[in-house]
Amino acid sequence: TTTVTVNPAALGFTAVAKNKLDIVTVPAGYKVQVINRTGDPIAAGVAAYKNDGTDTNFAQRIGDHGDALYWYGLAATGTARDETSSTRGLLVQNHENINQQYLHPAGATNVGGVRPEAEALKEIENHGVSVTEAVEDANRAWSVVQNSSLNRRITPNTPTTFSGPARGSDLLKTPFSTAGTDGRGTINNCANGTTPWGSALTCEENWAGYFRRSGDNAERTAKEVTALGRYGVTSGTGNFGWSTVTPATGTNTTFRRWDARATAGGSATTDWRNEPNQFGWIVEIDPYAPTSTPKKRTALGRLGHEGCWPGAFVVGKKPAWYMGDDSRREYLYKFVSATAWAAADATATNRLATGDKYLDTGTLYVAKFNADGTGSWLPLVFGQNGITSTAAPYPFTDQADVLVNARLAADVVGATPMDRPEWTAVNPVTGEVYLTLTNNNAAGRPLNGTDAANPRHYNDPFGAAQTASFGNPNGHIIRLKETGNSTEALTFNWDIYLFGAGADLDAANINVSGLTADQDFSSPDGLYFSRATNAAGQVKPLLWIETDDGAYTDVTNCMLLAAQPGTVGDGGARTITNAGTGGATATQATRVGAAPTAATLKRFLVGPVECEITGIDTTPDGRTVFVGIQHPGEGGTPAAPTSHWPDSQTVATPGATVRPRSAVVVITKDDGGVVGL
Ligand code: FEO
Ligand code: CA
Ligand code: CA
Ligand code: CA
Repeated sequence: TTTVTVNPAALGFTAVAKNKLDIVTVPAGYKVQVINRTGDPIAAGVAAYKNDGTDTNFAQRIGDHGDALYWYGLAATGTARDETSSTRGLLVQNHENINQQYLHPAGATNVGGVRPEAEALKEIENHGVSVTEAVEDANRAWSVVQNSSLNRRITPNTPTTFSGPARGSDLLKTPFSTAGTDGRGTINNCANGTTPWGSALTCEENWAGYFRRSGDNAERTAKEVTALGRYGVTSGTGNFGWSTVTPATGTNTTFRRWDARATAGGSATTDWRNEPNQFGWIVEIDPYAPTSTPKKRTALGRLGHEGCWPGAFVVGKKPAWYMGDDSRREYLYKFVSATAWAAADATATNRLATGDKYLDTGTLYVAKFNADGTGSWLPLVFGQNGITSTAAPYPFTDQADVLVNARLAADVVGATPMDRPEWTAVNPVTGEVYLTLTNNNAAGRPLNGTDAANPRHYNDPFGAAQTASFGNPNGHIIRLKETGNSTEALTFNWDIYLFGAGADLDAANINVSGLTADQDFSSPDGLYFSRATNAAGQVKPLLWIETDDGAYTDVTNCMLLAAQPGTVGDGGARTITNAGTGGATATQATRVGAAPTAATLKRFLVGPVECEITGIDTTPDGRTVFVGIQHPGEGGTPAAPTSHWPDSQTVATPGATVRPRSAVVVITKDDGGVVGL
């Protein structure tokens, strides 16, 4: 048995040094196991993954680019939920994107031309969500049950249904669903969210780039042209050219849908102008019901959704979910349900019906951060605050139009543009909301374009050529405290918890949080608080911070840090002197949290070459942490991969052409204790 210190004063591990090794590095006393790699079979009878580009049938394999993940406990046997289980559960993981080159024998064929059907199908099916049963044995070895009846893949081709105010809107009507009530699949699923009734929320982030946008403005209304531009549906090909495919048999609705052209071909059945409106939503999945149809919750708005983390659930109070929209100069949103929380719903077994109750009716708000450390939530409601049929540049028709085009509504009300809002996380003890702002550049945040909530502009020399990288290249983490600690609040206080920076950078104006070599990082992205309590009685939640490919990858691979943060307002006011090109300077006042100490912020893990650290969750007992390792070796080729991970984790010298794979790692402590303490 292990003695666990309750509310320890310090993180209980030795910081991991920055490094560029092709392995996952963890502190002494910790162990790494690899499960759920791209291509692993998750149904009975599916062949083992050869990883040579010849594998098929990804609708029954783990997808690529594993991103956010979450643990849903299972009873010891059967399919019932047991949220206290730490040894048997369902891992729900997003599959955001693909390393296209490694999915085919010699890389993708005919990029820029007519793509082969089988290649395009394989690429499509590598996107979406996986649900897999994971179990721990008596020796603490973890594995995935290949033939579990609960295993599931949701791909961009899986039937979905729309729910909430935009269901049936003209804006959602396509040849697939002339009533505008249904759709197919989910794509570019990045961060996530959850509910106390045991459903998973997956977030559609950079969906816009998958669409081909033909030269079709003359076929469209002015409103459609404005909306497509605002959401970035501007590619002349689509990311992978899927719309070019002509299938060998059947009507071409699987591939043609990725061309958002209005009337190409001259037939109403080919009018896919609204297909982009079918993406950009929060999608609710019941992981315990493998044949259930995922529901797109339109009340939560259509964005480049990064995450959707809930605030505290208090009986009699309306719950809220906090959502980033990851592009430069986008906003922070929250959805407040119209329905007050009833504790009995936590054990509901009709989870999607419970979602109907809380997620289909409510108010979508966007955040405005004031210079004095206060802020407000501005409602996005048709008819209010200028969101009307005479708004410019986009006149709204009704509330469905407001939700489908939430970014345009947020523009109208004067929300604060942020430095790329990524994940949200909520401290389960204090209810304070944390938001990663991963980075920004000089175009998005010029020297004289800073504000109190996005206060830095400087140059971090980056890369082998030490290219100038002006703007906020290292990002920061902002946090807010709702007035009255209420999810229903319309105002809040905020400060900046942490600034990313190299420890060697200017301590007065760049390394504002005073990071040391054991703590320094860039481009915070994934963000997650450990569950508030566990079987060992540990109640002080750890904040886990994950980084993305940023201005620090010339020095180190991406990383995971553990933190014990304080509270909003534990620091004070500060003025930063920013520096632009040609010696220009400008000052910016802001609010900064108390600096971390060696005891309250440490680097816990460094990933392999060219990876990003993505999903994270713990078992309820805190003794197992799951971490997503995304796109190792993304810059390589089939002939010359730049990473051989995860093979490199266990094989001293993998073959020169062994292909890298995204995977989930399980981290445990050798003494059996709570990870991080
Ligand atoms: Fe998919 Fe914003 O990261
Ligand atoms: Ca991200
Ligand atoms: Ca990112
Ligand atoms: Ca990435």
